[in-house]
Amino acid sequence: MGAWRDTHDRSLSDPEGFWREQAGLVSWFVKPTVVLDRSRAPFYRWFPDGRLNTCYNALDRHVINGRAEQTALIYDSAMTGVRAKFTYAELLEKVAAFAGALRAFGVGPGDRVVIYMPMIPEAVIAMLASARLGAVHSVVFGGFAAAELAVRIDDAQPTVVVSASCGLEPGRVVAYKPLLDRALALATHQPRVVVVKQRDELEADLVEPRDVDWDTALRAGGSDPAGCVDVAATDPLYILYTSGTTGRPKGIVRDNGGHAVALTWSMPHIFDTSAGQVWWTASDVGWVVGHSYIVYAPLFAGATTVLYEGKPVGTPDAGAFWRVIEEHRVEALFTAPTALRAIKKEDPSGERVQDYSLASLRNLFMAGERLDPETYQWATEILGVPVIDNWWQTETGWPIAANLRGLDPLPLKAGSPSVPVPGFDIQVLDEHGNVLQPNNEGAICLRLPLPPGTLTTLYNDDDRYVSSYLSAFDGYYLSGDGGYIDDDGYVFVMGRTDDVINVAGHRLSTGSIEAVLAAHPAVAECAVIGAADQLKGQVPRGFVVLKAGQQIDPEVLAKELVASVRNEIGPVAAFKDVSVVSALPKTRSGKILRRTMREIADGTDAPIPSTIEDAQVLEALRPALRKD
Ligand code: COA
Ligand code: AMP
Repeated sequence: MGAWRDTHDRSLSDPEGFWREQAGLVSWFVKPTVVLDRSRAPFYRWFPDGRLNTCYNALDRHVINGRAEQTALIYDSAMTGVRAKFTYAELLEKVAAFAGALRAFGVGPGDRVVIYMPMIPEAVIAMLASARLGAVHSVVFGGFAAAELAVRIDDAQPTVVVSASCGLEPGRVVAYKPLLDRALALATHQPRVVVVKQRDELEADLVEPRDVDWDTALRAGGSDPAGCVDVAATDPLYILYTSGTTGRPKGIVRDNGGHAVALTWSMPHIFDTSAGQVWWTASDVGWVVGHSYIVYAPLFAGATTVLYEGKPVGTPDAGAFWRVIEEHRVEALFTAPTALRAIKKEDPSGERVQDYSLASLRNLFMAGERLDPETYQWATEILGVPVIDNWWQTETGWPIAANLRGLDPLPLKAGSPSVPVPGFDIQVLDEHGNVLQPNNEGAICLRLPLPPGTLTTLYNDDDRYVSSYLSAFDGYYLSGDGGYIDDDGYVFVMGRTDDVINVAGHRLSTGSIEAVLAAHPAVAECAVIGAADQLKGQVPRGFVVLKAGQQIDPEVLAKELVASVRNEIGPVAAFKDVSVVSALPKTRSGKILRRTMREIADGTDAPIPSTIEDAQVLEALRPALRKD
């Protein structure tokens, strides 16, 4: 534990010295002389007088330093069978051309570019092109519906929206353009231009002059490729919306400098991956895991990153991941536990593994949700490589707790993402803010300042940043997760303490689903809980109370509500389960006892809270919760 402990201790006792050294991993146009500006605490700023460009660090510098002909990006679509490889030089050329196009459409430093795209190379190109111009991208996951996209467009106020004609899901082509058109009809803000990548599977209708085909846009800008605009380290690189406890998403703001330093540091030290190696994150660019570990970190490191359009199962079978590993000689795979559970369900004894050579694979990294010990054991057995959990959030942008494979590989413990990553001072607090002793469960918090790469604020909402994260315990960031630290310093993350749920590694707010249910004319009140699910970790379950005198058939109502959630939030919510009940259990102050409901649904014998208003209501609900 020597190297990890020493490095971690140093990062906390001398953060300025530690991160000054790590800043040397990045190419700067103006090297920072100040490492950490504490003058506006709790709004800390890393490398405030440094200037750089994120795209330069991802592409240009590798081309200049002899990696021009190395593959930067491998696109592998299990949906269409297409494979494509881009060298660093080729990717740079495409990014510079598209940046030229964006610039021609009026995008400049600080302007926002919303990207609503499936897993195709153009999504990565659009992100990097935005970074190249010093603009701020905001990628919206394709599984979100028009209304969610509209909220993000109104908040981010993009100059340009970049999209595609369709995404491909097993058995269905998802037409993106009608969703985008509906979102723009709902939104108050209108972009100047919408760029659409037309895919072979579906041609979108373009409405001139607002809509421009990707290839036409490229021709417009391609004759004048854009160079890198240098920005302040503290300027925003992207906004990524994530679910909070209310229906309104939070726009997490990431800076350029801290992000580049932290992510570049993370690749060799946490993920034991460096230049020239093949790295694959099976996630989606719409999530933070995709931002950090499909796009930015592997490219900062000069590695080869795989962009996979497909699923772990059904495209075509449970050997899909192993096929990709063999075909591209992947050395490290990073995915979510749900993906493994899906494979395990179809191929419990891991027979498909035998059909492929996984000789290249050295590590399997897991994040996005708790890695349950059963899935951990299963993956370890069938793959024969270390299966390494790491815990983090959209807010932090990179792992808070991990087993640092490059710095100091420690013994793995099932159920724990291992130890605090250098830069993160993890403490478990009780409800009064006292630091708990080892093995006591409480709120997992991070002592301020947070390290580089973590959120700097919420977009246009400093107050909400403070009230959501910094006001619960003075001097700490509240992670929203509960858990404990054991005697060896290993962190155990047991789940959210708020109303955020995690469905197949996708973060959702029960509040936003409740808002959709409550809007139905027959519904008087409702509650949504995240119930344990064998495959997806959690799934949302809705409980609705009808308005007095409502005669609607419960089955008809359930169908309507399921359709509304799909329509308003998106298929990704996986909302399929609604029960009509006569009343909801509440405290005397009127708060719905969602946690108690969840515990009963999950089969634990939860004690009935002393604050309950009417215990009979809970008893009456018990069979519905337990599905007796
Ligand atoms: N665009 C449009 N629709 C999408 C979508 C996208 N980008 N991604 C998912 N959806 C849809 C799916 O088609 C599905 O629709 P359906 O209800 O019509 O079947 C719904 O959203 C739920 O999708 P998903 O969560 O993918 O569930 P699934 O049952 O189709 O597949 C898994 C289950 C386990 C295979 C899948 O969840 C998975 O691969 N998970 C990995 C998790 C992951 O990568 N998380 C990222 C964070 S690290
Ligand atoms: P997101 O912001 O979408 O990445 O979701 C972050 C949330 O997912 C965290 O707050 C946790 O609740 C959960 N999570 C992510 N990774 C892990 C992990 N390795 N172990 C336990 N929970 C995790």
